[in-house]
Amino acid sequence: MKPVAVLSVVSELFPLIKTGGLADVAGSLPAFLRPEGIATTTLLPGYPAVLAKISNAVAIHEFQNLFGAPATLLRATAAGLDLIVIDAPHLYARVGNPYVGPDGENWSDNPIRFAALSAVGAAIGLGEVAGYRPDVVHAHDWQAGLTPAYLHYRGGNDRPATIMTIHNLAFQGQYGPELLEQLGLPPEAMGVDGVEYYGGIGFLKAGIQLADRITTVSPRYAEEICTLEGGMGLGGLLRDRIVDLQGILNGIDESVWDPSADDLISAKFDRAHIKPRRVNKLTLQRRVGLHEDTDVLVLGLVSRLTWQKGIDLLLDALPLILGTGAQVAIIGQGDRGMERAVRDAVTAYPGRVGCVIGYDEELGHLIQAGADALLLPSRFEPCGLTQLYALRYGCVPVVARVGGLSDTVIDANEMARAEGIGTGIQFAPPSVEMLESAVLRVAALWRKPALWRRIQRNGMRTDVSWRRSARLYAELYRELATGEIAPEHDELPPETSDYLMSA
Ligand code: ADP
Ligand code: GLC
Repeated sequence: MKPVAVLSVVSELFPLIKTGGLADVAGSLPAFLRPEGIATTTLLPGYPAVLAKISNAVAIHEFQNLFGAPATLLRATAAGLDLIVIDAPHLYARVGNPYVGPDGENWSDNPIRFAALSAVGAAIGLGEVAGYRPDVVHAHDWQAGLTPAYLHYRGGNDRPATIMTIHNLAFQGQYGPELLEQLGLPPEAMGVDGVEYYGGIGFLKAGIQLADRITTVSPRYAEEICTLEGGMGLGGLLRDRIVDLQGILNGIDESVWDPSADDLISAKFDRAHIKPRRVNKLTLQRRVGLHEDTDVLVLGLVSRLTWQKGIDLLLDALPLILGTGAQVAIIGQGDRGMERAVRDAVTAYPGRVGCVIGYDEELGHLIQAGADALLLPSRFEPCGLTQLYALRYGCVPVVARVGGLSDTVIDANEMARAEGIGTGIQFAPPSVEMLESAVLRVAALWRKPALWRRIQRNGMRTDVSWRRSARLYAELYRELATGEIAPEHDELPPETSDYLMSA
């Protein structure tokens, strides 16, 4: 079968540039699609970090004027990924975070910077770049949201199929109507069935409106975003398009997140030998300024420090959490006010709350390898990846029952324990009281080592790979490229279906 060519349009990509899960997903999925007959090329902006890490770069196209100055498209590879990188210094030659300047504020020309990403994606989709023409163009999040719009208004019937994936509905890319002409969109685009959104221009709205299909990163979040509250202003439109909307769970790259081969942790371990986790616990306690004691329950948090992630709930629950004797290890960065509040907590509870404010990939791994449990009190969570890493590392996830957290963690309640299938703790709703109750449950379970080890092992046995989801993406791409609908297949791994058949 001829491979389906997919152009993935995205603003961050692990291991080149990352602020969150979007980069992990965009960076890990292509390798898992290859065996499914999907050839992915990723289009991304040429930030300094990206240009520094690519190899074999070949200039394949020049734009005389890409939103204000010339730009060059480079074909390149890095970390096994096929890339097209936009070398446009006037838009992307800024060090550090791809979205915000040193003052912590969004770059004021972000609409232009990401419209350029989308416009280039559309130009490639329309075959204007010699040597490569994709069957499907796949846009991720608001930064690529105008891609389906440019293709719709420029391409007519001769355009490739488009997919818009929502990784987070809270970031919508909403700008003033006066930008329409500068963005190169025609006047007729400024309507409810175009890019118009509450009187302005909505980048994500445009993508949701005009893409052939919409996906998001968990089945549960696909349901939530069709509601008034979860829809964040776009619920009505998403409900209108519900037959074109699909939730496909994120997977993880198990070679990057492998406790038995992870060079970023002190002691490697696997399901059969969980004990070395104690060594990691001591290293973690030292790194974040906690009292070194392996006989204490350590609760970890690796997260952007924002309202979404419920950090304030955790801080409010601290007196009760610490009252159980537990310690809390935090690695994160985000809202200045929340960073300050976390630092204040460290001052108030020295040795019992420890933190590193900043972005540190190594510590992200060490927490998974050394903390006993991972806290995710998110108010909403499209998928979440850290709970998947936690499962793989035997760090028991304690999650709010929302979005992808609800789809990926099995609460170790009475029945689940009787069946031997619990992998973590869920609580609902995301409130201080329910988080406190969840931590009390965790502390009680942790005091029963055999039971705790069972939950850890169940988690470590969970299939959090891309296997199932890569197949779903491949089926979607193939259907859009060829019109062929894949036959239904057995969702369960063979050993499970045998068990069910004989039960
Ligand atoms: P989101 O994309 O909403 O931030 P995800 O759970 O999908 O949440 O992905 C977050 C990713 O970023 C994970 O790979 C996590 O380990 C990583 N991460 C988040 N904050 C930090 C941090 N401060 N230091 C290191 N890694 C972090
Ligand atoms: C977003 C979401 C997160 C998801 C990630 C990757 O940043 O907040 O839940 O896992 O995208 O899809």
